Amino acid sequence: MEVITEINKMRTRVLTFKGSRKSIGFAPTMGALHDGHISLMRCARKENDEIVVSIYLNPKQFDNKDDFDNYPRRLKEDIEVIREENVDVVFAPSNDEMYPVGYCTNVRQDRITDALCGRVRPGHFNGVTTVVTKLFNIVGPDRAYFGQKDYQQSAIIKKLVADLNMDIDIKVCPTVREEGGLALSSRNRRLNIEERQSSLCIYSSLLKARDMFVSNIRDTKEIIEEMSSVIKKTKHVKIDYISIVNICTLEDLSSINEKALAAVAVWIGNTRLIDNTILE
Ligand code: PAF
Repeated sequence: MEVITEINKMRTRVLTFKGSRKSIGFAPTMGALHDGHISLMRCARKENDEIVVSIYLNPKQFDNKDDFDNYPRRLKEDIEVIREENVDVVFAPSNDEMYPVGYCTNVRQDRITDALCGRVRPGHFNGVTTVVTKLFNIVGPDRAYFGQKDYQQSAIIKKLVADLNMDIDIKVCPTVREEGGLALSSRNRRLNIEERQSSLCIYSSLLKARDMFVSNIRDTKEIIEEMSSVIKKTKHVKIDYISIVNICTLEDLSSINEKALAAVAVWIGNTRLIDNTILE
C-alpha cells in the first residue's frame, strides 16, 4: 500500500491505473477511522480494481472551531487500519497542498443544503462540496463510497455529481451500528460512559418512528412528538432537530405517502450526533 501526500504524485498514480484500464473505487474520510469506514472500503474492494482512501480533515467544513480542534487526529493508527483492508493507495494531503495561499474557489449548492443540518451548520455543506469536488478531480474515481448515517451529505454529493456532469457512481452503504444501536461516528470517541448510555435514545427514537409507520401512522407531527418524548426522557441530551422529510428534496413532510426519511440531530453534552432511518 502506498501513502501519497502530494496531489501531483496522486495524479501520476491515477494515470497509471487509468492507463491499464483499472477501475478506481474511492472512500473519502477525515480519519479517526471506525468500522463504518472499513465497511466502505470493503464495499469498494468488491466492486473495483484499485482502491483509494483519502484521509483529510477538511477545515472548510467545520462551522465550529471547538469541533475542529477536538476532532480526533490519528493518522498513523488510521494508516495501519487501512493496511489491513487491501487498499492500494492512501491519499493524505496537507492543508497547504489542498488550499495553498491564494486559494479562493468554493463549490456551493443550493436547496438540499438548506435543509436539516444545513439550517444549523452554516457553510458546512459548501465546505463538503468544495473538498469532495477537489478530491474527485484528483483521484478520478469510477465509484465513490459514503455512509447512510450522513444521508444529507450523500444526497448533496449525488446532486453535485449529477449537476456538474461528473462521471462517478455514488454508492451509499448502510449505517454500521454498535450493539444497542448507536451509529458509528468518529465523534463517539468523545462520549463518556454516561453520555454513551444516553446516546442510545437516538436509535430508540428512530425505532419508535419505524414502529409508528408500520402501524400505519402517517402524520409526521404525531411521529415527531413521540420521537421527541423518547429523547427528552434521557439525561444529558438536547434536541437539535427531529425531522421527517422527502427522501430526495429533504423538504419537510406533513404526512408520509410511501417513503420518507426520519432524521435526528442531538447534542449529548458537548458532542453533536446525527442519525436517520428510511420509513418505507
Ligand atoms: O464524511 C466525511 O468524512 C467528510 O464529510 C468527507 C466526505 C470525507 C469530506 O471531507
